[in-house]
Amino acid sequence: MNPICKQCNRISFVNFLRNTSTLSIKNFAVSQNESKSIKKFSDIPHIKRSELILRFLPKGKYYGLGLNELHRAINEEFGNIVRMPSLFGKPEMIFSYNDTDNETLLRNESSKPYRYSFEPLKYFREKIRPDVYGGEYGSMASEHGDRWYKIRTLVNPIMLQPKMVQRYTESINHITSDFIDYILKRDLNKQISNRDLNLWSLESIANITLDRRLGLFNDTNSEAAVKMIDLIRRFFIMCADFEVSPSIWKYYHTKAFKEYMKVNNDLLNIVMNYIEETIEQTRDNQGDNANGILQQLLKIDKNVAIIMAVDSMTAGVDTTASAITGILYCLAKNPEKQEKLREEILREFTTPELNVKSFANLPYLRACIKEGMRFYPPVSGTSRKTDFDLVFSNYFIPKGTYVITWPQLFYRRENIFPQSSEYLPERWTREQKCTHLNQSTKFHFLPFGHGVRSCVGRRFANLEMEVFLINFLRRFKIEWNEDDLQIQSTFVNIPTGNVKFTLKKL
Ligand code: HEM
Repeated sequence: MNPICKQCNRISFVNFLRNTSTLSIKNFAVSQNESKSIKKFSDIPHIKRSELILRFLPKGKYYGLGLNELHRAINEEFGNIVRMPSLFGKPEMIFSYNDTDNETLLRNESSKPYRYSFEPLKYFREKIRPDVYGGEYGSMASEHGDRWYKIRTLVNPIMLQPKMVQRYTESINHITSDFIDYILKRDLNKQISNRDLNLWSLESIANITLDRRLGLFNDTNSEAAVKMIDLIRRFFIMCADFEVSPSIWKYYHTKAFKEYMKVNNDLLNIVMNYIEETIEQTRDNQGDNANGILQQLLKIDKNVAIIMAVDSMTAGVDTTASAITGILYCLAKNPEKQEKLREEILREFTTPELNVKSFANLPYLRACIKEGMRFYPPVSGTSRKTDFDLVFSNYFIPKGTYVITWPQLFYRRENIFPQSSEYLPERWTREQKCTHLNQSTKFHFLPFGHGVRSCVGRRFANLEMEVFLINFLRRFKIEWNEDDLQIQSTFVNIPTGNVKFTLKKL
């Protein structure tokens, strides 16, 4: 009897015990006859600790690479599975680039998946700001196990409830109309930059989790709000430095580490001030917002509201701005797809108000968004600690192994996405799916991650993007007249350089 389950690649303990002739792999025994092909964990191609450090030093092979370029380089050199040594308190890890292994990993998640990430952030939250994070509830993004489960199960029914998302359609629509007015008034050439898209994204998230307008489209932006955008950007860039490059922060707090702590602290303080102001303003009259996200979270606990607002600012602003930039770019570069989308939007929406029912009839809009995120995913990879003994690419992977997976590498693989270098929203529509997708993408296309640990803000992100595209496409033709879009790959992929979309009134 083969000890490896054919469906899920998990090693079955029961099958295992039935085997007589055995070969020891770590503390586990596998039948020699029936699993000849399973190789030992220690046989996985790997890189020596000293070599890895050298590669990250100036003039080293990995020095200064963005995360995507780094993973591509490792994949090219070592293949689809690599073992990375433990370093400066960071555990040993597997870097996995094989789509079947990714499926094995995600199919075998427990109900409390562990995502290895944000360790410095966890330090900040536990050691520097226990006043907010040290109580009953911790951050959703950086916690694990029971503490993660506790906050996630409280927040899921609020943030993932379709009715809750729908109730924000009108306010997000207002924000997007105000954004258009702001662009038209400010810029005679009608051009949008990446900073503009960040303003729109922050104004939208603030509406959802702080229950207020920040006034970012006024000529005089509030100092705190502008500071918040810069803090979020620095948060991600520095985050990648501490999470990926070898760093001694666990033993010694460098100037950069202290600065990173300050970035987190400043951001938290701004969010806390905003929430205090909102509470003060709505003390006697919550009006329409009594059942909104902030008020629902405040009913649970004030710290939960603060924690979720900070998590949403850090996880939701740059990601959504990055996604909409990539999608607009694809539509500008493919005018016939843009036109087809416009036709669908104009057919469904004939008045400035957005009829919620019409959202059900926009398959091409959703397809354009998905295909845009395939080309320019805001987040490239994620990580998990294995909850069972597994087999990846014929190597034994013991329970408790940290795995980094990089789905962005799958998005241009022909075996999954034929004609992968073409922007083909049609591959996501019911009629044409079979011709442009080679297999189910449930485990291979993961812009919002997977399973119970996937993005809690995904419905809001989709709402924001849909409302944005509906508003812009029915009023403007979107053009791109610059050099190719450049992306800086940090924890979030951030469009850089000269991002400039030109709007032509229809
Ligand atoms: C296009 C925009 C967005 C993208 C592409 C995105 C992507 C992701 C990804 C890939 C993950 C990790 C999932 C995993 O490990 O399986 C994640 C987690 C998360 N996202 Fe998003 N996100 C977006 C917008 C948002 C927004 C708008 C919010 C808040 C309103 C948000 C809040 C979060 C939080 C709190 C987590 C941690 C969830 C957990 O660990 O349980 N995200 N997101």
